[in-house]
Amino acid sequence: MTSSNKIPASEITDPADYFNRRTFMRTGVVAATAVATGLVYRRLNPVSTGTVDTPLIEGLTTPATAAVDNNFSVTDPPTSLDHITHYNNFYEFSTDKEGVAAASATFDTQGWKVSVEGLVRKPKVFDLDDLLKISPPEERIYRMRCVEGWSMIIPWVGYSLSKLLNAVEPLSDAKFVAFETLLDPQRMPGQRRRVLKWPYVEGLRMDEAMHPLTLLASGLYGRTLPAQNGAPIRLVTPWKYGFKGIKSIVTIKLVARQPRTTWNESAPNEYGFYANVNPRVDHPRWSQATEQRIGEPGRRPTLMFNGYAEQVAGLYAGMDLRANF
Ligand code: MTE
Repeated sequence: MTSSNKIPASEITDPADYFNRRTFMRTGVVAATAVATGLVYRRLNPVSTGTVDTPLIEGLTTPATAAVDNNFSVTDPPTSLDHITHYNNFYEFSTDKEGVAAASATFDTQGWKVSVEGLVRKPKVFDLDDLLKISPPEERIYRMRCVEGWSMIIPWVGYSLSKLLNAVEPLSDAKFVAFETLLDPQRMPGQRRRVLKWPYVEGLRMDEAMHPLTLLASGLYGRTLPAQNGAPIRLVTPWKYGFKGIKSIVTIKLVARQPRTTWNESAPNEYGFYANVNPRVDHPRWSQATEQRIGEPGRRPTLMFNGYAEQVAGLYAGMDLRANF
């Protein structure tokens, strides 16, 4: 991430360096197997489960990481839990990806509330329990592509955001949805540094927010969401760069105008409002044509809309994707 003018280059880990340094040491042989055959990989190397101790989520109809082949899940082998929970972007805690887990270890989400407000017939401040009761938890194995050029396969737990939005009955003049992360520098020590303008904010067009792929995630790998991944509730839009997936949400507001978004505001020439994964539109400082899949050697081609073109390309019919990046 990192906007060019705010963070010294010394703080930026080039994804390629990172993976040359660590991933090959840890998982080189296993990763080679994974490339050869994902299925064998999964049988021989059950995914790591010992690195987080958040509670298991009851009521899942499919066991975590089962190969689910439907419109919502990909069949690629999931990235290890260890990588998913120890290589994070969450600037409210740390700008060091490998330091987020430790920096967020004591984050307390007790009494969490989410306000769903704005242009809706039935605005409501939800307790987390009420929010989670809106729809049964589903497991969705999604691709995740960070704008920095790395990617993972993450078995999320959650439900379509549309379920929540429908519950509050959007008014016809609601055209966008604005999201906000908790603002609390006591509990989120990274907010004491002005690396970004706090709180972190994101936004979607109404039709993007209502798309069934758009997930309100409350867990991963069958467990409650670890702090470092955005506890207790975060957004996941798998056809967009990872920064759209705002973490630890406290406010969801339906609005008439396109809301401001944190990274777009921080570096408008580098991060657009739409942020759709697009291998043909490069970041000003690096190519977006390929990506480093965590746990895999080498780079693989990046897919248009991160492989979800069939489901979402229609949302952008007629739009200039270079101008609306
Ligand atoms: N949400 C908040 N509130 N703060 C952040 O720093 N980082 C974003 C996104 N959501 C971020 C955030 C970025 S840049 C990415 S790539 C993803 O979270 C990373 O999610 P992960 O750590 O669960 O992989």
